[in-house]
Amino acid sequence: MIRKEDIARILDAVRIEEVVGDFVTLKKKGANMFGLCPFHNEKTPSFTVAPVKGIYKCFGCGKAGNAVNFMMEHEHYTYPEALRYLARKYGVDIVEEEADEEYELKRSEEEQAFFVHEFAQKWFISQLWESKQGQTVALSYFRERGFSDATIHKFQLGYSPEEYDAFFKHAQKQGFKEDVLIKNGLVTEERKNDRFRARVIFPIHSASGRVLAFGGRTMRSDKNIAKYLNSPETPIYRKSEVLYGIYFAKNAIHKENVCYLTEGYTDVISLHQAGVENVVSSSGTSLTIGQIKSIRRFTPNITILFDGDSAGIKASFRAIDMILSEGMNVRVVLFPEGEDPDSFARNHSSAELLQYLKEESSSFIIFKAENLLKDAESDPVERATAIRDIVASIAAVPDPITRSEFIKDCSRRFDITEKDLVFEMNKVLRSKATQKIRQEDGFEVDIPQEKKETPSLLRNTNELLDDAEKKLIQLILNYGNTDIKYFEKNEDARLIEKSIKTADFIFNQLEEEELEFRDASNIHLLELCKKQFNEDGKIDTALLFHILSPDLVSYVADLMDEQYVLSPNWEIMHRVYVQHKDNNAHIFMAVVDGSVLEFKRLIVRHHIDEINKKFEQKPNNEEMSNLLLEFYKWKNLEVKINKDQLNRVIIK
Ligand code: CTP
Ligand code: MN
Repeated sequence: MIRKEDIARILDAVRIEEVVGDFVTLKKKGANMFGLCPFHNEKTPSFTVAPVKGIYKCFGCGKAGNAVNFMMEHEHYTYPEALRYLARKYGVDIVEEEADEEYELKRSEEEQAFFVHEFAQKWFISQLWESKQGQTVALSYFRERGFSDATIHKFQLGYSPEEYDAFFKHAQKQGFKEDVLIKNGLVTEERKNDRFRARVIFPIHSASGRVLAFGGRTMRSDKNIAKYLNSPETPIYRKSEVLYGIYFAKNAIHKENVCYLTEGYTDVISLHQAGVENVVSSSGTSLTIGQIKSIRRFTPNITILFDGDSAGIKASFRAIDMILSEGMNVRVVLFPEGEDPDSFARNHSSAELLQYLKEESSSFIIFKAENLLKDAESDPVERATAIRDIVASIAAVPDPITRSEFIKDCSRRFDITEKDLVFEMNKVLRSKATQKIRQEDGFEVDIPQEKKETPSLLRNTNELLDDAEKKLIQLILNYGNTDIKYFEKNEDARLIEKSIKTADFIFNQLEEEELEFRDASNIHLLELCKKQFNEDGKIDTALLFHILSPDLVSYVADLMDEQYVLSPNWEIMHRVYVQHKDNNAHIFMAVVDGSVLEFKRLIVRHHIDEINKKFEQKPNNEEMSNLLLEFYKWKNLEVKINKDQLNRVIIK
């Protein structure tokens, strides 16, 4: 039990921005700080920290709380664990009452795991530096590899000696139970041997610097022994989420706004030593989406540094598509055949390394092109296959605008028309398309299996929106007083006949979602019509003309004159069942409802486009927070409208 007064002292000492800042890169703007939410997937920051209030809040996923909540949520701590962590971080001495048996028993597996890893790490380090065997076998190995003592200290490298159970014995002497050592992968289950015996040790850290696991490299040249051995999954080591080196790299990744991704432990360490600190590796597993996501907290840009052999190229192809599918940017640096980043960094000066990284970094398109077309240049069939392969990568990009930029690039590069490339890409997209698409993080939206191609693809949103607004005004002016009869389902799913004037229907529909027109004349006209309808219960265009300004008179006249064309696309009704005695009434109802829907879709699109433009203009903190609120409002509405559209049913 932690005493109340101690809790108060902890909370006094805590600085929320520092606590969160250990896990999330925060940018300060004004009174608040911003970052990418660690609790859900996002590409634009909606996670805010308010240092003055001592709280964090994510506008995207809604998670919020103080420093204690953050630690509980993020590190899966219990309440007392979170308090203890914060007390340690801020040097607050706490008196734990009854911190004895009961507490020991309840102590979570995670806490235990962290504890035993910390213990093991210290021992491995002492074996490296203090034991004779460590010095002659391991320390000299590291030094021969070119690691400086400072580097060895920084990465907390260690050594596990040759004896079968040196660690096991030592740990048991210190009171660690066998099952705990086994569960945490330090002692093998079958023979009760030290898992990492006769290996140099690379501790794997969390983003906040706690040891989560170990990698061990054998000191033997026997080919039958695995070169590297890694901790198994444990209560604290979820391989698919952890990147080797992230703790040492996170600040540099943020600063450089790019993360170098390598394959191995030694790549990370050698690059660091050469002065390139924004580097991590997927050591111990092949790259996972979870690892890519954990990079995205710090930067949207990844540059892959893989070996120049065929395995490296293959792995990089896979990584490219995974990174693209997360909506991130990817470049590639390939090392000369037979070299990995580690050996290259050792064989060249820092300046040469930096220059190489800069000059050899190429877009994934060029990279794939160079590697796929290498032998296929003259063979048209192989060339086509290669280009299709590249287009398939482009199809992995979630953002359509980015996709079209890549298509343009490809078109120029390979001298193929954009149209042909888009045709190929659509084939890939179609085959990938399932009923469910991921509309936006967290939103699952159903889309109709077949989407009708409409001419709308050829025109921009603003033009379409102008027309949609005009159409609604037209309907109000010409048919505002016409009754629409429809049936609505009541709670018992029985159909109730309803009747409403067209003008009223349109007003209601717009008000329901608080939608306004965009065009100034249309806004003004709608206001006038509404006012008249509310006062007189009907639309009287003759009276309307009296109060119109001269320029609007001709505009309204045009609208009233124009015969609207019944479009075959107005199909679907929403909670509205058309009574089918009169075919004209049916079509009319469909036109009104369809026009309203069309407007809704376009105005929402328009607002989202506007907000996206503003996001690109580097908004400050306050603006960003407002923009995000706006953005989610419209995005939610879009989802709702899409759903509404699907719910509509025609009774024929
Ligand atoms: N790896 C592993 N298990 C193996 C081999 C490799 O987990 N049996 C992982 C390690 O994280 C290693 C990375 O894959 O760092 C890359 O492997 P490799 O290129 O073979 O090793 P290097 O990092 O080049 O190691 P060294 O230079 O010490 O040979
Ligand atoms: Mn190597």
